[in-house]
Amino acid sequence: MADSNPCQLRERDDIVLRVEHLSVNFAMGKKTVQAVTDVSFDVARGETLGLVGESGCGKSTVGRAIMQLPPPTSGGVWFRGQDMTSLAGEPLRQTRTGLQMIFQDPISSLNPRRRVRDIIAEGLTIWARDNARERVDEVMEAVGLDAASVGDRRPHQFSGGQCQRICIARSLALDPDVLICDEPVSALDVSVQAQILNLLEDMKARYHLTMVFVAHNLAVVKNISDRVAVMYLGKLCEIGNTEAIYAQPAHPYTRALLASIPDTDPLARDDASIDDAPLLQGDLPSPADPPSGCRFRTRCPYAQARCAEEVPMMQPVADDHYVACHFPLR
Ligand SMILES: Nc1ncnc2c1ncn2[C@@H]1O[C@H](COP(=O)(O)OP(=O)(O)OP(=O)(O)O)[C@@H](O)[C@H]1O
Ligand code: SF4
Ligand SMILES: [Mg+2]
Repeated sequence: MADSNPCQLRERDDIVLRVEHLSVNFAMGKKTVQAVTDVSFDVARGETLGLVGESGCGKSTVGRAIMQLPPPTSGGVWFRGQDMTSLAGEPLRQTRTGLQMIFQDPISSLNPRRRVRDIIAEGLTIWARDNARERVDEVMEAVGLDAASVGDRRPHQFSGGQCQRICIARSLALDPDVLICDEPVSALDVSVQAQILNLLEDMKARYHLTMVFVAHNLAVVKNISDRVAVMYLGKLCEIGNTEAIYAQPAHPYTRALLASIPDTDPLARDDASIDDAPLLQGDLPSPADPPSGCRFRTRCPYAQARCAEEVPMMQPVADDHYVACHFPLR
């Protein structure tokens, strides 16, 4: 059962987005895929939350459930104090313009038949906003695209990195508060990944954005996140400020993820002893049939009998550092 008041949720006036006891199930034949189970976190104005975990752990499902695409099976999504799950139709669409999402594959998220200028103007046109043309020019300039020379081109005339710039411009056109970036650089050439990350950082500062940044690798989010949340098989394992998570991971899964970062990226790890942490072994269980108790127990080198019997609840281990494990690493 969900604990009634997750301790990792903060009492602050500047919380822009709060996800509370979020669960998303999908019917798959006779089975139920528990894609996301009882996930709670919040993001304060101007913060970036890194959301990390292996493929299939539910990161994109969390992002889409925040947008109500589709709405979660249970739980609340509070945006600027409004529970999005209580909205439908026009009020939902209106509220949703304050949250925008950027995806992994920029090329497939752009309509190939439309001109870039029209793609970026889409939301402005739907909402009949004034000065749409000026706004399109402004966001194109902001992301490094010259509206006069490339505005009439179509997506196939751009590289992957430039297509992601177009997607970013489109997401900024309606002046959102929150940007949910779902692995926005993982499909791009390594040479352009840093450029797009830098661009997102610049846009965050310029437009005063709050961000949720999804990645499967802890190295990617380290330098851009104020806080990091780690997911495993639909559940949150650990959440806290970035320094604490990287310097002293308390969940065995977080430690294994850190240990799996290649040596060529030494800056991503603060603690040399993490090199000795056990690497992840065994296969990922199915979210249609997750292990009892702690979902990580079938791969955890520290598992004990209690781990099979009791679901670990989030508990504080330090200031702004929380872990869902019966035997946190210290
Ligand atoms: N529409 C759907 N119908 C059925 N199962 C789904 C659906 N969407 C996602 N899932 C399942 O839910 C689980 C979580 O998927 P999700 O795409 O959220 O993971 P992810 O962490 O984003 O993975 P990746 O890193 O590969 O993008 C997976 O087991 C996936 O197969
Ligand atoms: S609760 Fe048990 S199985 Fe789960 S991570 Fe902690 S020690 Fe490992
Ligand atoms: Mg995903």
